[in-house]
Amino acid sequence: MNGHTAAPPYGQVLKLDELLQAARVHDDDVERVLFMATHQACEIFFAVILRHLEAVRTALDAGDGPLAVQRMTPLPVIVSTLVRQFDGLATLSVDAFHTIRTDLGDASGFQSAQFREIEYLCGLRDARFLNTAGFTPGDKSRLQACLDGRSVQEAYRDFVGGCDDPETADQVRRALLDFDEAFAMWRTRHAVLAERFLGGDTGTAGSDGASYLWLAARRRLFPEAWPVVASTAV
Ligand code: HEM
Repeated sequence: MNGHTAAPPYGQVLKLDELLQAARVHDDDVERVLFMATHQACEIFFAVILRHLEAVRTALDAGDGPLAVQRMTPLPVIVSTLVRQFDGLATLSVDAFHTIRTDLGDASGFQSAQFREIEYLCGLRDARFLNTAGFTPGDKSRLQACLDGRSVQEAYRDFVGGCDDPETADQVRRALLDFDEAFAMWRTRHAVLAERFLGGDTGTAGSDGASYLWLAARRRLFPEAWPVVASTAV
């Protein structure tokens, strides 16, 4: 005992009762527990990624390249852990997957507003996604605010334009590229997983399923961070 007022214990600090209740970890079907918890874990980390991206944009606007790099550095590592989450889902039995899928109706990760927010905040802006069925009015207004606001891509462009230290500018570019590459790997792993369970079948949101995800895997968050390839006549 040190005489200080007792700090709340671990479970309270983390609000574990509420968290685990929301995660429905007591469902009888353990495969569904894995399926739901994986999606929820991804959403928690999407939120963490969004907070970091906002901090990257603020640092770039303040002309602080090293701070932007520091805020960007955890992101590819976090995304790699999300790639591994797909490996966990790949262990589901095909029967369990189809039972869960039937119960899901047309609910789909396609309706992840935070995922679209990550794309919009970075600068990958396809406004058609605003009309995604299942988005709440709150989702839509957050996404619209993102579209109306400054992107990380714009902040990067202005930062590079005003930066007289090529080494720092290149470190920032590399940090954006590392994140974009990790994100592309996430998209790719996702497409493989969808193919594993769906084959050529459509997705729960009515898309072309794995084929849609393979096309989506070509999207890049920061095209300007990648090398410019000289066009080659064929
Ligand atoms: C067995 C597991 C999974 C399968 C088979 C699967 C399948 C699919 C399919 C087919 C789509 C295309 C839209 C549709 O028609 O539904 C999609 C979209 C999406 N899913 Fe999954 N998914 C799985 C797990 C996850 C997980 C764990 C997350 C994490 C939150 C996730 C997030 C997303 C997102 C964000 C999209 C939209 C992607 C985009 O538009 O680029 N999915 N998924």
